[in-house]
Amino acid sequence: MAKTKRIGILTAGGDSPGLNAAIRGVGKTALGFYGMEIVGFRDGFRGIVEDRRLKLDKSTLAGILTVGGTILGTSRDKPHRMTIDGRVHDMTNVIVKNYERYGLDGLVCLGGGGTQKSALRLAQAGLNVITLPKTIDNDVAMTDLTFGFATALDIATDAIDRLHSTAHSHHRIIVAEIMGHRAGWLTLGAGISGGADVILIPEIAYDVHKIAEAIRRRSKVGTNFSIVAVAEGAMAKEDARAYAVAEAHKERAKSQREKHEAKLELATLEARHNGNTMRLAKQLEELTHLESRVTILGYVQRGGIPSAADRLLATRLGSACGDLINDNVFGVMVASRGDRTEPVPLERVAGKRKTVPPDHPWVAAARHVGTCLGD
Ligand code: F6P
Repeated sequence: MAKTKRIGILTAGGDSPGLNAAIRGVGKTALGFYGMEIVGFRDGFRGIVEDRRLKLDKSTLAGILTVGGTILGTSRDKPHRMTIDGRVHDMTNVIVKNYERYGLDGLVCLGGGGTQKSALRLAQAGLNVITLPKTIDNDVAMTDLTFGFATALDIATDAIDRLHSTAHSHHRIIVAEIMGHRAGWLTLGAGISGGADVILIPEIAYDVHKIAEAIRRRSKVGTNFSIVAVAEGAMAKEDARAYAVAEAHKERAKSQREKHEAKLELATLEARHNGNTMRLAKQLEELTHLESRVTILGYVQRGGIPSAADRLLATRLGSACGDLINDNVFGVMVASRGDRTEPVPLERVAGKRKTVPPDHPWVAAARHVGTCLGD
């Protein structure tokens, strides 16, 4: 008789709505449909290192479809850089050893860009790894969508809707900061859906005078309020230039000293970027003479029950993942392509980021309806 397959599963990186729906999708397919065993690891890759196992059965997988967060817990620990007793260690070999010790035939990793990189590292170390794309940022390469994005989009859109009525009543500018350090999908999507007057994303550097001009134009025709949707990582043109220079220094650095200096330069710029949204609001107030307020949406965007679209996507990807495991297909991410799923080799995903192309149809749509993108 063939040996029962035993599969491990973990969630890594920032949490996002739909993770439990995906765990359920993988679990029910593996367990109920194919008769495999499935064991969860708590708190990301640390769970394998520190033996934080949780046996997943019918009852643990029941009732979690609509629950936010992850029943497994998560962490931003990376296999090759894990802090143990205050010191950073490469725990890749420990993970490989424990994978064997626990009798695993495969490991499912649910995560964003960082997790895809970690998963590739483990695949290269000889493990049977398969991943699912999750993040509210929607910036994982080679997939149309990541789960978490649709829910966060609903939350951020609802926030912009609510900010409209108060901005209108007080004749104010309200600057709403939306998550996304490197990719603007969420800000652009919510900005368009919520009808923001200005949308600022990391991919399009802005000129604060152009934004002020757009707001003043609205005032001239009697519309004395504006909503500015700004991504965490959106930058003024001068800051974007300084960043590009620092990035180039990092790329070119050869000696340890050069590498250290380049890292410091980037860290200084990043530190300066903190508080950018507050600074922007102040600048706009000065330039337009309209009172300005800031609302930082923050972790509200990652919490709560997943939307129907995320539950559907997570279940589709999770069940396709179960099929691939049954067929012994590993070393891939289960990507969403239209209404289908597709296994994509991890080499084609890891270390890449799907950002908003400047000629993307969403960008064009925003411009066509008169939204200022700050450029
Ligand atoms: O990657 C998802 C994300 O929510 C980003 O949008 C945000 O910038 C970041 O995580 C916040 O990370 P943390 O949970 O580590 O504070």
